[in-house]
Amino acid sequence: MKVLVVGAGGREHALVWKISKSPLVTKIFVAPGNAGMEEFAECVDIAVDQIEDLCDFALEQKVDLTVVGPELPLTLGIVDAFQKLGLKVFGPSQEAAKLEGSKAFSKELMLQVGVPTARFQIFNNVNEAKLFIVDREPPFVIKADGLAGGKGVLIASSCEEGIQVVNQMIQNRLFGEAGKRVVIEEFFTGDELSVLLFTDGEKIIPLASSQDHKRVFDDDQGPNTGGMGAYSPCPFVSDEELADIVDRCARPVIQELKRQETPYRGLLYVGLIMTEKGPQVLEYNVRFGDPEAQAILPRLKTDIVPIMLEIANGKLETKTLEWDSRPCITVVMASRGYPGTYQSGFKITGLEQIKSNDVVVFHAGTTREPNRDVTTSGGRVLNVSALGDTFKEARDRVYEALQKISFEGAFYRKDIGKRVFEKTGVK
Ligand code: GLY
Repeated sequence: MKVLVVGAGGREHALVWKISKSPLVTKIFVAPGNAGMEEFAECVDIAVDQIEDLCDFALEQKVDLTVVGPELPLTLGIVDAFQKLGLKVFGPSQEAAKLEGSKAFSKELMLQVGVPTARFQIFNNVNEAKLFIVDREPPFVIKADGLAGGKGVLIASSCEEGIQVVNQMIQNRLFGEAGKRVVIEEFFTGDELSVLLFTDGEKIIPLASSQDHKRVFDDDQGPNTGGMGAYSPCPFVSDEELADIVDRCARPVIQELKRQETPYRGLLYVGLIMTEKGPQVLEYNVRFGDPEAQAILPRLKTDIVPIMLEIANGKLETKTLEWDSRPCITVVMASRGYPGTYQSGFKITGLEQIKSNDVVVFHAGTTREPNRDVTTSGGRVLNVSALGDTFKEARDRVYEALQKISFEGAFYRKDIGKRVFEKTGVK
């Protein structure tokens, strides 16, 4: 069968890599893709938000299954458009994708069905938002309602800062229309946890747990990023705790969306923080995590294509997933300046030196030049993922591999997986 993957980042490279292992698949297209995916797929020059062109392409090429990587096309209604044409597609409908596309929608839904989450208020009036802030104790979490490229959540540590943020978002349109409405919520401390699950709108199969590292520098310093590294599994969460999280933090929302006749079908990402009060939902994302996918998919032994097809057909038949018991750590190599401004176009060297079966390099922001060189073209450039019999072995492998690869301005966090090492005392 022919599969089209929509997207261009490390997550989509991991998806293409995993899909390529399926004996059902004869051809993979990726739109628009990146230099790393060329090994397994034909890259097609269509942007992720050109929905009509993607539909035309899938019809012309008789694509049997389309897998949508990023949230933008999902919130623009790519799944509805494909389904109208009778094309099979893996991902939630536009209505269900509001779980990520509108923070206000998802918080109200969580409140309605009793999912544990921070107390919140929604504002589109700057003066009302300010009055709310001055009446309360900082810190505040202030979220732009719409999609803001992973930058729409700001923490204000004082009332002054909070007022500044709502001014910038609502009045000065810092994030354009996405920030004309904001959610202000209480701030929690604790370990973050990512729980991803497959669902057809009713049945749920959780994937292995993982933990992202969102701050740009070691020891969780510096601004938030899309994610600088991840590991899987999260050894502090037992199977029982994971099942409990699914039951309390995901199932009620999935059931309610079904009741409203807008069932959620696809991959749901539940972003949690483990607090003294128990797990609290920070956010829902309507697609695989990036870079969580790059740590989870190398551990997944089950063929992913039948699962995606079953969900695209509306009925998840698969019962369980089989996992490699070995942990996986993925580390992001980024361009100097990320998550702010950075330069691109630097040649990447050393990729051919990565030969171990237990190490895989997923490309995120890379381009193949006419002379065949691979150059940088994004803030997050590469993900290096390594499996090991222990977390220590995975860490040693991943950092050894990272030393072989270079490009001008490259940097990466040296402490991915630090929670595991802190809690187990492994040096
Ligand atoms: N790693 C965070 C995200 O995918 O949104």
